Formats: sequence, C-alpha cells, structure tokens
Amino acid sequence: MQKHARLFAVLESMDNGKTIRESRDIDVPLAIRHFYYHAGWATLQAKEFPGHEPLGVAGQIIPWNFPLLMLAWKVAPAIAMGNTVVLKPAEQTPLTALLFARICQDVGLPKGVVNIVTGDGSTGAALVDHPDVNKIAFTGSTAVGKMIRERTAGTGKSLTLELGGKSPFIVFDDADLDSAVEGIVDSIWFNQGQVCCAGSRLLAQEGIAESLYAKLAARLRTLRVGDPLDKNVDMGPIVSAEQLARIRTLVAAGCSEGATLTQAPCDVPSNGHFYPPTLLTNVEPAHLVAQEEIFGPVLVAMTFRTPGEAVEIANHTRYGLAASVWTENVNLALDMAPKLRAGVVWVNSANLFDAAAGFGGVKESGYGREGGREGLYAYLKPVGRPAAPKKAGRKLKAAAVTGIDRTPKLYIGGKQVRPDAGYSIGVIGTGGVLLGHVGQGNRKDVRNAVEAARRAAAWSGTTGYARSQVLYFIAENLAARRQEFEARIMAMTGQDDASSEVDEALDSLFTYAAWADKHDGAVHSVPMQGAVLAMNEATGVIGIVCPADRPLAGLIDLVAPAIATGNRVIAVPSEAHPLSATDLYQVFDTSDLPDGVVNIVTGEAEALAEVLALHNDVDALWYAGPDEGRATVERASIGNLKRVWLPGPDGATDGEALRQATQVKNVWLPYGE
Ligand code: NAI
Repeated sequence: MQKHARLFAVLESMDNGKTIRESRDIDVPLAIRHFYYHAGWATLQAKEFPGHEPLGVAGQIIPWNFPLLMLAWKVAPAIAMGNTVVLKPAEQTPLTALLFARICQDVGLPKGVVNIVTGDGSTGAALVDHPDVNKIAFTGSTAVGKMIRERTAGTGKSLTLELGGKSPFIVFDDADLDSAVEGIVDSIWFNQGQVCCAGSRLLAQEGIAESLYAKLAARLRTLRVGDPLDKNVDMGPIVSAEQLARIRTLVAAGCSEGATLTQAPCDVPSNGHFYPPTLLTNVEPAHLVAQEEIFGPVLVAMTFRTPGEAVEIANHTRYGLAASVWTENVNLALDMAPKLRAGVVWVNSANLFDAAAGFGGVKESGYGREGGREGLYAYLKPVGRPAAPKKAGRKLKAAAVTGIDRTPKLYIGGKQVRPDAGYSIGVIGTGGVLLGHVGQGNRKDVRNAVEAARRAAAWSGTTGYARSQVLYFIAENLAARRQEFEARIMAMTGQDDASSEVDEALDSLFTYAAWADKHDGAVHSVPMQGAVLAMNEATGVIGIVCPADRPLAGLIDLVAPAIATGNRVIAVPSEAHPLSATDLYQVFDTSDLPDGVVNIVTGEAEALAEVLALHNDVDALWYAGPDEGRATVERASIGNLKRVWLPGPDGATDGEALRQATQVKNVWLPYGE
C-alpha cells in the first residue's frame, strides 16, 4: 500500500469525491498505519491473548465515506487475529477495495483469507444471513445496523456495530477561539461533513457565542469548494445525488423551524453534487436538525450557560459516538470527559484517529471498538466457552396469593415490594415439596426496578475502592450465613452438598471485590504530543437473567462483576430455584449496598428477559436463561441497541465479564505548543 500510496489516493478521490489533500494526507496514511499496528498484534497474539481464538469468518460491511480507511479498520484486526474475511464495500465506492484485493494477491496472502464482494444492500444482506459467517462487523447507518441486529438475533453470530452520530462540539468561554474555529473546520467541513463522528452540533457558551459565530462565518467564506483532484480545494462534492437531496431537505426543515442560515457565498460549481459549507444558528436542542444526522457540511449551533447545561444538551441525543471539548481549563475538560455519553472525547482537538486508540460508540451509535488493544476482542472468542445453557426442566404454575402472604417480595430500590399483579409462583423443591412462593414480577415491576437503578447513578461515580468494600462486606455476610444458604440450595435443587456452590459464590465476590479497583484502563501511545486515556467506564444499567442451575453462584457470578465496575443491575434469578436470590435481600441490606444498585425481580425468566430487552433505559442485557429466549432478547434489544451478552451457564472468565461490564472511552489530550 505504501508503494502504491499515490494511486490509492487518486482512486479514492475519484471514486468518493473527497479532496486529494485528505485522501493523500489522512485516509491512505492512516490505513497503512492500521496494517502496521495490527501486524504487531499478530506477532504478540499468542503471548498476549492466551485462552482466546479467532472467531472464524468475519463478514464486514462498510460505507462510502472512508472506503479504504474503513476497509483497513475492518480487515487489519480481523486477519491479524487469524480470522478470514468477506468484505463488502459500499456500492458507491468499491474501487480502492478492489485495488487492495490486487495487493493481497501481489503479496501472496493465502487465497481465501481476504475476499471482496461488491454489491449493494442486498449483497450485504446475503452476507449477514450466510450460515457460515461467524461474525458481522458493520459500519453505516443506524437503521441498517438495527436491521442487522434483528437478522443476526439467535444465530450465534458475533456482532459489532459502528453507526451514526450527532456529536457535540462544546466551546467554553475561556477557549482559544481561533483554534476552536480550526477545530470546527476539521470537525464538520472535513470530508464534506460525511463523517460519523463529525462535530455537527456546536454548543457555544453564551458569552462567546456571537463572536464565535462571526469568526466562523468569516472562515467558511475562505473554504474552497470544487474539483477534489485540485490540491488547493478544501471541499469536494457530496458522494451521491441521494445524499445531496437528503442534506437539502434537512437544511430546509431547519430553516422552517426558525434557524438562521449562513452559507459561504463562494463559487460552488454547478456541475456536480456540491453543497456549500453551512452554519445554522438559533437552533433549539429539540429541533430536527439538532437531532437527525445530516451527514453533510452543515453545522447547527446552540448556546449554553453552565457546564452542567452543556452536558445535558450534549447528551440529549439517541447517539453517543464522539464529543469535542474546548477550554483552556484542564480541570473543566477532565471533569466534562466522563460526563459526556460518547465513546471518544477530544479535548481541544477534533477528528483525531489512530490505530492505537479504540474508536466506537455508545447508545444508538453502536457497540464494539475498532483500534487499540480493546478493538481486538471484536475478533476473538474465549477458548472452550461453556456450552449453551439448558432449558429449565419445568415451568412453574402461577398461583393467586391466598391466605397469609409468606411470599418473599421483589427487591426494588433497596426495599421489599409486593409484585404489581399480586400473583406469586410456587417454588417446588426435591420430591415435589412446596418450599414457598416468590412474587411473579411483570412489566410494571421491571419498570420500577429500572427507575430505581437509574436513581442509583451515584454508584457509577463512586470509587472502585468504595465498591470493593461493599463487595467484601457482602461476602462476609454471606459467609456468616452459609449453612442457611447451603440448606436452601439443597432443598431446591436436590444436591447432596451445596457447600461448593456457596464457596464459588464467595470466591466470585472476593474476586470481583479485588478487581473493583484494578480493572484499569490504559494510556495509548499515539503519534501525537499528548496522551490518549482509555478509560473503562461502567455501561450503566444492566439487566441480568441468571442461569437456571446454580441458583446462588450463577447469580453472583454475573451480578458481582457488574456492580464491581459501577453498574446498577436488575437481576432475574433462576426461575426454578429463586429462593437463594430472595434470601440475599437481607445480606444486601446489612452490607451497605446503596439502594437501587441491585434490584431483583422474580418470575418467568423468558418473559422478564424480553421486557428488559425492550426497555430503552436498560443499557445492556446479560442473558443466561433458557436457550429459547436468546433470539428473542437479541431481537428485542434493537430499540436502543443495547449490548447483549449471552454468557454460558458456568459464567465467564474474569476478563470477559469485566469487558462486558464496561466500555472503553478514549479521551484525547493533546498538549504543548
Ligand atoms: P447504509 O447504512 O445504507 O450503507 C452502509 C453499507 O451497508 C453499504 O455497504 C450498504 O451497501 C450496506 N447495506 C445497506 N443495506 C443493507 C442491508 N440491509 N444489509 C446489509 N448491508 C446493507 O448507509 P447509506 O444509505 O449509504 O447512507 C444513509 C445515511 O446513513 C447517511 O446519510 C448517514 O446519515 C448514515 N451513514 C453513516 C455512516 C457512518 O459512518 N456511521 C456511513 C454511511 C452512512
């Protein structure tokens, strides 16, 4: 690729319309760097990723905005980790992928390792549906990403999605405004704004908003729009007539909602799909243009007063890909970074990318990371992952509560509450003995539990040390009552000896208490003066459907890593053997666990799993319930594109559980002159 760098750059510009300056200086060098970086990981794989193996065949579907760079982001980590790939470029821009195929032949890559299949969405759909494909990696629109999530549901295919964005570009009143203006140029007028992480929403602090707009209006007049092969041109054409029409429609909608339009009165050629750099001011956060991805050179501007208000407006979107923060106050910048719901935060910079730093989003911007050590797990699986859980032996009958209610209630917000519907389920022990009843939770109970978990947000902000103290305390209190727990497990499951299960539960609590202050992030080494902090952040609110067997340890194995890393959970215990979970209420109550961090809703596992999967305030779902429910939860997760994890019945390695519990946020901190 290095030998043919100029050919790649020219072909990319001719095919996509991006300026030759960008394809030559950004797309092609970054693509090359991606292969070098991952070549190194191929060398280190055996030593650095023991217990992992490649997934197999990766189906990769990429968009037209960075045809070669997206190919590199997909192909390099996949083949470095020993997978083979079938890559489908976008129908608008297949040429550099075909040139890349030639290079694969020239260098003697074994036949079949990299396969390029051109075509449109129907070709992509055929790849998604192919039974011999083990993984789908997709970059493109959120609508197609959701469709792919639905089609892969229940197939066992691994999936990563890198989708749209509406990323905020936040300028505080102490920022260096001239630098911020250049940052905006790189953010929204780079690649004609056809960038998933484009800083497309400008949030300007009130005191400097007018002067920033004036500087921007002046700057956009100097941008040259024209032939992308001309080295002096700043912006080329939009990729296609459809995209141009979409931009026009959205800008017209913005104007009719009251936005003020500023466009460069520069010579925009009329013989092509050109669109001028555009600024829309007087935009409200709820306006269509502030919510919809325009995917063109259109910046929408809003104002804010305080940092808190900036966070609120910034996070007021279904997306969560990137954010850019401009201030000379490092204290403010580092306070903002964790509060912004985004996978990447650039401080006093924008649209910086490197192979060593992971890239990817949260919320409806998708899941998975590309780049960095964190990105390699998208192409690996733990070896000898336990087999899929078996279906619970029997369905339990619901019985209306009669007589004196001795039923353990649900555990929501630190309180024991009656199930909304007033129904309970009999728990049958060995020999058909009725051991008691548990509440039959329903949709409303799940809603209440999710609200309680949302209110417990402080848990995510507290220190790992503080969380470890609580986990140790839970372990101590459980150990003090181990005989009672053992007796309960034996009565429910018919095991002769439940001491090993209680030991396993205790071991899990101690293990994740230990990890709570050790699941460190990293400082990535990127070619820049500065640092990239890769921070492991809690995912948020996780729904956990526990395995049918091992009623105590199965629950603790999943709940402990989730809460150790700062998540709040709604756990659905084993449907057949729920009493170990309800016995835990008192353990939690005496262990300083804040209200709402762990909520327990007993009832029918599959039904409750679906309710959790459909809930838009649940950020992730871990499902270890009956096999039959897997497809349902994956399909039901598409509303807010929550991450779904299907752990085996015996839990997972510490590393896998911790990775599932967290997501990496990469914070770019350039410094110096
Ligand atoms: P798209 O999501 O339809 O296309 C991306 C890729 O997916 C292409 O290779 C396409 O052939 C393929 N594809 C389309 N339908 C498919 C299906 N049913 N199954 C499998 N693969 C399928 O995006 P499009 O239509 O080109 O652009 C529409 C909007 O999507 C843009 O205006 C922009 O808002 C957003 N977009 C976001 C991108 C990003 O990087 N996040 C990239 C491209 C578009």
